[in-house]
Amino acid sequence: MAEGNILGPARNRVDGKAKVTGAAKYSVEFEVPKCAYAWPVDSNIAKGKITGIDTSAAQKSPGVLAIVSHLNAPKPKEPGAKESRDSGHGIRNEERVPFADNEVHYAGQYVALVVAQTIEQARHAARLVRVSYAPEQPLLEMEEAEHRARKPSKNHDENVQLKTGNVDAAFADSSLTRIEQTYSTPTETHNPIEMSGTIAAWEADDKLTLWDSTQFVKGVQSIVSRAWNLPTENVRVICPFVGGAFGCKGAVWPHVLAAAMAAKAAGVPVKFHVRRQDMFTSIGHRTPTQQKVSLAATPDGKLKAMRHVTNTLTSTVGQFTESAGARSTGVMYASPSIWVEETVFPVNMSTPTFMRAPGECPGSYALECAMDELAYALKMDPVELRIINHADNHPVKNVPFSAKHLKECYQVGAEKFGWSKRNPKPASMRDGELLVGWGMATKTYPAHIQGAAARVTLKADGSATVQCATHDLGTGAYTAFTQISSEQLGLPFEKIRFELGKSDYPFGPVAGGSNSTATVGKALHELAEALHQTLAQLAIKDPKSPLQNQNPQDISMVAPGRLGLKTDSSKSDTFIDILRRVRRDSIIVETPLKTEQANKNWAFQSWGADFVEVKINPVLPRVQVTRAVSVINCGRVVTFKPARNQIIGGVNMGIGMALMEATEYDPQTGLPAIRNLADYHVVTNADAPVIDVAFVGEPDFTFNPIGCRGIGEIGIVGAAAAVANAVYHATGKRVRDLPITLDKLI
Ligand code: MOS
Repeated sequence: MAEGNILGPARNRVDGKAKVTGAAKYSVEFEVPKCAYAWPVDSNIAKGKITGIDTSAAQKSPGVLAIVSHLNAPKPKEPGAKESRDSGHGIRNEERVPFADNEVHYAGQYVALVVAQTIEQARHAARLVRVSYAPEQPLLEMEEAEHRARKPSKNHDENVQLKTGNVDAAFADSSLTRIEQTYSTPTETHNPIEMSGTIAAWEADDKLTLWDSTQFVKGVQSIVSRAWNLPTENVRVICPFVGGAFGCKGAVWPHVLAAAMAAKAAGVPVKFHVRRQDMFTSIGHRTPTQQKVSLAATPDGKLKAMRHVTNTLTSTVGQFTESAGARSTGVMYASPSIWVEETVFPVNMSTPTFMRAPGECPGSYALECAMDELAYALKMDPVELRIINHADNHPVKNVPFSAKHLKECYQVGAEKFGWSKRNPKPASMRDGELLVGWGMATKTYPAHIQGAAARVTLKADGSATVQCATHDLGTGAYTAFTQISSEQLGLPFEKIRFELGKSDYPFGPVAGGSNSTATVGKALHELAEALHQTLAQLAIKDPKSPLQNQNPQDISMVAPGRLGLKTDSSKSDTFIDILRRVRRDSIIVETPLKTEQANKNWAFQSWGADFVEVKINPVLPRVQVTRAVSVINCGRVVTFKPARNQIIGGVNMGIGMALMEATEYDPQTGLPAIRNLADYHVVTNADAPVIDVAFVGEPDFTFNPIGCRGIGEIGIVGAAAAVANAVYHATGKRVRDLPITLDKLI
């Protein structure tokens, strides 16, 4: 790795002690006086009308304070759907205010909410609520929703239907090696340790505080204040810690508005902690995908055409679309012709949402399996095939990729893994009785940056508090931002307290799209410049300062904690001396929020390569991943340990996607048949291999002044394909529908 590509030493998490001692408070753990508890009543039909709600028994049940439904709920207005997640307006993927009317759009929809003094009382009373329905025939399958299918032209401002070159001509050319296969992925559900949840407390008719587990405090503030017609600052959102999110806490889901409605109705603060079972219906999920991938290449492996046609589901109360083809085939390899098509089918199921690398993750599964199939068809090493088709330029936008070190990822990964010892023949490698398979895949994820602002309070003792309404989802963001603040402001790491997770702080965007470190990092860079200029202004007016009467433009930080002349660093002064001499205990400096201008001359993506080993008992073919190497190029690494953790977590999640994760639905009711952690399998320690993570590359200063690109999502990309490819190599069986459970290998 290039010199200086890791910003600071391998820090432990600054919030580690608070977390292991239980001092860190998660949203629903806050103690709010007089707080009551909410328990939902869910629809058990997928489509129809509510014809009646009998609450007479529930009302008489002990402790009950209110029962809200469409019949009596204090209704906020529709805040309006804002598509872009770049906006400060917040994100809603289910575009319906809860309890809006008597319509049922999906099974599991909240139809009433019981508020009682204790959670047990609320749960008991919720069971006494009798809801009657006039059910209608729901649309539950892609085929049934054909007549309502849409082809969205854009997803978050990026084109998703792509066409370059002449794909048809290439596929008609019989001198080329052509493959065409369909891959499918199931519905997956976010299962962070901390379920979603909100405490809503009305301090006055027009003042509301929410403790909400969210990836976007400012977004929640914006949506809720618009829904209730309140001045923005009258809604406060607090979320200092998040116990995992993976995308499901990026949008505002019904429980947030419902908590506020229930608190209004009950006249006391209300806590609505989403049940694990409702995590499967009310906070989004990864939509299932069907992806047909076609590739055509010359005998020496040069891609001539790529086609990626994706069908996914969305709900009838949302627009969410998972752009699998555009975000994989649309970016990963050099090919003179590319065709990407995406169709979305609205069904009576709850609305899907972002889940770690939405688009890239399922898209790369299909594409990277197809590349493996092409390598076999060409009798070529899969790493070699990828190097031959390496893209220096973005294949659709035709601008160069900035600081791309993907070939180095392949090389370092292959070396660490011992790839050269691989016998390419399927089912040829053994460890005793066990079949051994080695597979690999490319990883990529775009580097996003948005606008953010920040505030610093510098004290005369040399300590500082830095604030931004950003988030730490468990990723290590507190530590990363402390590290960046230390470098940029020029203060010791230990002297900085970084505060986040409050809407009172300067603007931070959604912690989504792996944008936070780069975005807030840039804001901290701007904050440091502003702080140094403010100090310079004090120094030049101070007769005792060596910088007196100098032009502030000539002054910059010459060493940590010290300002000096750019041309003559012997003329310098320390932050502490400057403040002390003007008898200031502290100064506060805040930067304004600026809109980030897109740099259209470059394409910014992070890259990586996964190499995995599986071992499979041929009699009872349960797949065990025994080894993984993941090499990442993400520009500069801000804090090594949490960065490595992000990749380990992502690869493990990819292993879960390959082998176990799936939410199955009851075809009669449309309700998930799997809605708990006993049936929904995620990777545990027993399933997880030791994952060797390495970072390669150089700081990407073209992208931002810190040189870092995001890493939250790239870990999962490609990982499922690497496992699936290893399973093929071990067994000679190509399973094209995830997860690869043992029944599919028998
Ligand atoms: Mo990420 S799936 O954009 O929270």
